[in-house]
Amino acid sequence: MLTNLFRVAGFDSTSASATWCLYALARDQRTQSKLREELLAFGREPTEKDFASMAAFPYFDAVIKETLRVYPVTDAERVALQDDVVPLKFPITKPDGSKITELHIRKGDSMVIPFICSNRLNAVWGDGDTFRPERWLGDKSLPPKDQMTQGWSNLVTFSEGPRLCIGVRLALLELKIILYTLIRNYTFALPHDNFEVDGYFFASLIPVVKGQEEKGGYMPLKVAHYEG
Ligand code: HEM
Repeated sequence: MLTNLFRVAGFDSTSASATWCLYALARDQRTQSKLREELLAFGREPTEKDFASMAAFPYFDAVIKETLRVYPVTDAERVALQDDVVPLKFPITKPDGSKITELHIRKGDSMVIPFICSNRLNAVWGDGDTFRPERWLGDKSLPPKDQMTQGWSNLVTFSEGPRLCIGVRLALLELKIILYTLIRNYTFALPHDNFEVDGYFFASLIPVVKGQEEKGGYMPLKVAHYEG
């Protein structure tokens, strides 16, 4: 049981995050080249400490954070143990113009907390759906801290509070090693111009190619050796 928890929690989520990062970079060749330039400029084999501090890799750090913001690969599910009222920071406007300002939860209700919605909320991020690593490269381009969550990097990707992912450090280290190795050695491009992918939540955020839904989760990308 514990092995399964670690396999699903630790393996699928990290590989799915790496996959979404490669997709984002395949869509954005300028960001991919800029990232490769920074990684190739590093003059030695990086250590675990280099990846923990990321001082030598500011753009890489921004790409990782932006990937985990735009593509949080899990959500959270909870069952209410008692009746409660949850106030909404950003009220929801109904079609008739009236506002929902709080949610009334009853004991036993099941809830899905969609992290992807918090991480992309336009009311907070302005252009929440846009993959733009530059937003992490200067304090002024991020939303005010009190509008963000209290999780890792003020995102809710690894949850927050006492049930925050216990594998967060390992996940980040794995992601950095995988992406560092791949981006230095290979280039990634979309298979064709009209290529579009949707994310479906099935244990983790699975990529499904539009028009090829019957194939299930996969991410076909054009991969070539980087020749320098
Ligand atoms: C990018 C990769 C990862 C993401 C986005 C992620 C995200 C999360 C989230 C959101 C939770 C809380 C779920 C909830 O409360 O319902 C969680 C819990 C957990 N994660 Fe991760 N995780 C990742 C990688 C890992 C790794 C590498 C490991 C360990 C090898 C791991 C082990 C766990 C475990 C054991 C829990 C349950 C903790 C508890 O219930 O207190 N995760 N993860």
